Amino acid sequence: MTDSRLVSPAETEEERAAEAILRPRRLDEFVGQPAIREQVQILIEAARARGEPVDHVLLYGPPGLGKTTLAQIIAAEMGVQARLTSGPALEHQGMLASILTALEDRDVFFVDEIHRLNRAVEEALYPAMEDLAFDFVAGKGAGAQTIRLSLKRFTVIGATTRAGALGGPLRDRFGVTLRLDYYGEEELTAILTRSARLLGVALDPDGARLLAERSRGTPRVANRLLRRARDYAQVRAAGRIDAPVAGAALEVLGVDGLGLDEMDRRVLGVLCGPLSGHPVGVRTIAVSVQEEAETIEDVVEPYLIRLGLVVRTPRGRLATSAAYRHLGRDAPAAAPGGPSGQPDLWDR
Ligand SMILES: Nc1ncnc2c1ncn2[C@@H]1O[C@H](COP(=O)(O)OP(=O)(O)OP(=O)(O)O)[C@@H](O)[C@H]1O
Ligand SMILES: [Mg+2]
Repeated sequence: MTDSRLVSPAETEEERAAEAILRPRRLDEFVGQPAIREQVQILIEAARARGEPVDHVLLYGPPGLGKTTLAQIIAAEMGVQARLTSGPALEHQGMLASILTALEDRDVFFVDEIHRLNRAVEEALYPAMEDLAFDFVAGKGAGAQTIRLSLKRFTVIGATTRAGALGGPLRDRFGVTLRLDYYGEEELTAILTRSARLLGVALDPDGARLLAERSRGTPRVANRLLRRARDYAQVRAAGRIDAPVAGAALEVLGVDGLGLDEMDRRVLGVLCGPLSGHPVGVRTIAVSVQEEAETIEDVVEPYLIRLGLVVRTPRGRLATSAAYRHLGRDAPAAAPGGPSGQPDLWDR
């Protein structure tokens, strides 16, 4: 399936323009994640005081939680340039060499999807990160010569949705690893309120809370829901987003009471369907819903697991009784229970 989901990165000009307005530029605009904010602040202040680059930083966590944002904030707070690229875009060592040799002292080199670097490029990155050296092999065979280029001091910031997919040698070269987690409703409400102010949209507190609840813990989703609710309010209401307007907009988008969209429900449908009660592998799920296995694992599943609707077992994924309840189906006796202590989650 190629249809875009609420959590996928900006795809249209309109979206990129909105993101450019909404993306926090400074650390004090970055909402939530207090532990990470503090770590980043200490890193930056210490590096600045010593006149050094920030240590290499690895950012990981599900899509849309602020990895790219944080990398750009680090560069801005350091007063240096950020050079942005991604693992798949760095096709060969020559491309890496040309970027690295152009960096100025203490610049940030941001590598998105760093788990998708090819081996040759990854190996060329090691001496660059450790010794500020780039070993260039000129010529072939017996006459080949290695020329060592020296680099200015710089910081690699790597981002990945799956730290587990990163080889040990690469992971070990990062001095700092920051794990971004899903945001709480208060934090999302604060993000929505800030975004509404920047976009000049009237969003009342109940409307903000409702959108926050349905944002799957993800700022990118919150901002997207806000923009769709703004459209709805403009066309069908007086331009103001209150709770009824937000609710109606969510309904149009097919976002349910838990913030699940069509794809989430299809995945649950597979687990609660004919195979119900049996662990199902990610590949089988992917084929059934016509989505890539990687997307199921990185985007869909983490949130379903966090909600306690799905559990991972060694033999595959199982729906919990809460998942059956959410779909309005009867759970088989063998279904694992959902999390205790938050029953209201299912009754919204
Ligand atoms: N802490 C935050 N406070 C306010 N807004 C945020 C925060 N984190 C993210 N955002 C908003 O969410 C959007 C998505 O964030 P970002 O692009 O940094 O996510 P990402 O983790 O890099 O996602 P991906 O894995 O898809 O690359 C940003 O444009 C920004 O507007
Ligand atoms: Mg990103």
